[in-house]
Amino acid sequence: MTTATDSAPAVAPATTGAPLLDIRGLSVSYGRRGANTRVLNGVDLAARSGEILGIIGETGSGKTTLARATVGLVRPEAGRIGFDGQDLAALRGGALRAFRRTGQVQFTFQDSLRSLDPELTVDRIVGEPLAVAGVPRDRRAARVAEALTRVGLDPAALGTRTPGQLSGGQRQRVCVARAIVTRPRLLITDEPVSALDASNRNLVLHLLDRLRRELDLAIIVISHDLSSLAGIADRVAVLYRGQLVEQGPISEVLEDPRHPYTALLTASAPSVRREHRLLPAQLRASGDREAWPDGVGCAFAPRCRFAGPECRERPATVRSDGPGTVNSDEPGLTEGPGARSVACHHATTWRRELV
Ligand SMILES: Nc1ncnc2c1ncn2[C@@H]1O[C@H](COP(=O)(O)OP(=O)(O)OP(=O)(O)O)[C@@H](O)[C@H]1O
Ligand code: SF4
Ligand SMILES: [Mg+2]
Repeated sequence: MTTATDSAPAVAPATTGAPLLDIRGLSVSYGRRGANTRVLNGVDLAARSGEILGIIGETGSGKTTLARATVGLVRPEAGRIGFDGQDLAALRGGALRAFRRTGQVQFTFQDSLRSLDPELTVDRIVGEPLAVAGVPRDRRAARVAEALTRVGLDPAALGTRTPGQLSGGQRQRVCVARAIVTRPRLLITDEPVSALDASNRNLVLHLLDRLRRELDLAIIVISHDLSSLAGIADRVAVLYRGQLVEQGPISEVLEDPRHPYTALLTASAPSVRREHRLLPAQLRASGDREAWPDGVGCAFAPRCRFAGPECRERPATVRSDGPGTVNSDEPGLTEGPGARSVACHHATTWRRELV
């Protein structure tokens, strides 16, 4: 097992085999018992070493909450967070703190400027997780320089600067350097490019792509922008109001979305190239439709053009691997990197209603 104090892994990417991260039935609520709001509802998700998994969803869908629960910053209400065979959701107190200190799972926060202490130098910021992991002081400087170099920053030029003396792109790289300095096996990065201009966005996305290969890292990239994920992610998971409505290889999901919400996302992202382009207007519910009762059945129903009486039952998430198939008797929604799943009663039929 690789830890913050081991030597750097020199392994080739391996995107097959058992998932490194295997989340099953994860639910999270905020607020006090009795008055709490459920923000994640029965999420199943898997990530493999060397793979980039994109998580997409509109604001408030629960993306950050999913990341925070996975790294142990929010306690799940239910579910299992399997990491290399260990259930992180079951860790408490000292055991959880000890696991987090190893730095095997790292997280970069949504707002890079606010997540970096403005008083500290880059060297201190990047070295902090090593101090927490117990790496001796005399070995930290070399590790910090190595991490900065790996993300394309010059340690000699930038190590003594503070976050306010960096550009947005450099700050984001510092966040990534701090995350990889412990040689993690899983990196979760929350909206890493949303505050960057187009050229910096591409540089940071390419950096993540390179790091997963060089370090055999599993990387989860959270974004509300599908086009940012399209170039680098192997698979994508679509979150809508705390539920994963669709999951699968990103090229297949973009080309042939099975959930009406995913179809709306792809139709609304003109920069994402697809052969069979749908238009957002083809997918939106008409204004004169009777209002959908609050909190009943499928969460997407109030916005779904294809909602029918059966949608008053919440749809189960089922495997949908073959073209146009939905195999509700198939176990293991997250098994295999090519697995597809969808939560929609009309996954195989809604296209027939398109005009
Ligand atoms: N600490 C908290 N206490 C109570 N509610 C919270 C808390 N953090 C988030 N929420 C609520 O949980 C829901 C999901 O929030 P979350 O930050 O996970 O969404 P998100 O998908 O990351 O959104 P964004 O794209 O805006 O970052 C939102 O309704 C939010 O208001
Ligand atoms: S289950 Fe029904 S309401 Fe929900 S996305 Fe599918 S068709 Fe639309
Ligand atoms: Mg967020």
